[in-house]
Amino acid sequence: MSSVLIKGGRVVTAADDYLADVFVERERITLIGESLDVAADRVIDAGGKYVLPGCVDPHTHLDMPFGGTVTIDDVESGQTSAAFGGTTCHVDFCIQGKGQTFADALAGWRAKAEGKQVIDMGYHMAVTDLKEGGTLEDLAALPDEGVTSYKLFMAYKGALQVDDETLFKTMEVAADTGALVMVHAENGDAIDVLVKAALAAGRTEPHWHALTRPPELEGEATNRAIQLARIAGCPLYVVHVSCKESVEPIALAREKGWDVWGETCTQYFFVDYSFLERPDFEGGKYVYTPPPRDIANQEVLWDAVRTDALSVISTDHCAFLWDGQKSLGRDDFSKIPNGGPGLENRLQMIHHFGVREGRITLNRMVELLATNPARLFGLYPRKGSLAVGSDADIVIFDPEKRATISAKTHHSRCDYSLYEGTEVVSAAVGRRAVE
Ligand code: URP
Ligand code: ZN
Ligand code: ZN
Repeated sequence: MSSVLIKGGRVVTAADDYLADVFVERERITLIGESLDVAADRVIDAGGKYVLPGCVDPHTHLDMPFGGTVTIDDVESGQTSAAFGGTTCHVDFCIQGKGQTFADALAGWRAKAEGKQVIDMGYHMAVTDLKEGGTLEDLAALPDEGVTSYKLFMAYKGALQVDDETLFKTMEVAADTGALVMVHAENGDAIDVLVKAALAAGRTEPHWHALTRPPELEGEATNRAIQLARIAGCPLYVVHVSCKESVEPIALAREKGWDVWGETCTQYFFVDYSFLERPDFEGGKYVYTPPPRDIANQEVLWDAVRTDALSVISTDHCAFLWDGQKSLGRDDFSKIPNGGPGLENRLQMIHHFGVREGRITLNRMVELLATNPARLFGLYPRKGSLAVGSDADIVIFDPEKRATISAKTHHSRCDYSLYEGTEVVSAAVGRRAVE
């Protein structure tokens, strides 16, 4: 099929909101206008529906070895889940193995996606080793390979964590190449001390995951990364911001006009610390990092996304089965694989509780879920907008359709949902307008 006419929908972008027809030819938008009189192979009636740019999720972990196992969604199941939730493009993390070159790492992650893709995707390079495998020259070459962001973990000691030397050298390369440096900002050394002390004292239940990762350690690492990026002269993006202690330094840096950006994730608006205390290892479902915080942080985060202290909402989809993977840590919280599902639920949750309940505008929702991630990761204006020349990554969104979120009906392979039983009004089908 080569042309599609989407008729009579309410076209909503980060800046606009109007009734129009959208005409797509060969996977690109070629016309937008009122009552378009064009012949099309397929006509979609979008009356009463929103026509949105496909959402872009800049933070996913598909088919990733982590915590002694591998995330349960591969590229096929993860992307199918994304599409049903209105996400038409995502950026996943290619993790450099110790001693591995960046080129080998990228080839390996691309091979895992081969033949499985149902939506568009890209990669961030997670730098773990500049001593044995990765060189600064190879790092500098990555933007020419289409990888425009470097990710560093300041936590997960003994696994993905890098030292400040590696972080700072990567930042210096980014200052030269224009790549964006992304950080998982928590003080991994201090967390390691707290985890060992908790286990030595016999504290093994899931909620100790949060008690050994206090918000101050997220704030400290966020501050450190901001100051290091300032000295190196590179742009900085702090992923999965969960608390006031991290929002505040980002807000301050942005007030000063520094090139600093912050992202939070859907789950931090809805899941709080008390979920970790649920009995019979139910709390294990909510072991992700940073951990669910005290409920007061939820209002802090809504304020932050409203005021642009934080500019992106992602999912950090990193799904493990509760039965068989999370259960690796039934007797030791530090062995519970860190991560949660959610790739399918971002748009419906943020639309219902953000837009419908008056916390953010519809335009701001599009900006947070589509336009800003596209801009920050070099995809705009092909992605993140609806304009002549943009990719036909379009979501037709029914603002009145009722849905109940459940693992029984989602498209992820995960055996639970963070939002099980939540009722939302509105649902999307993310799909390419041209099959
Ligand atoms: O718990 C999480 N977030 N798992 C995925 C890895 C990360 O830190 O983003
Ligand atoms: Zn992280
Ligand atoms: Zn992540």
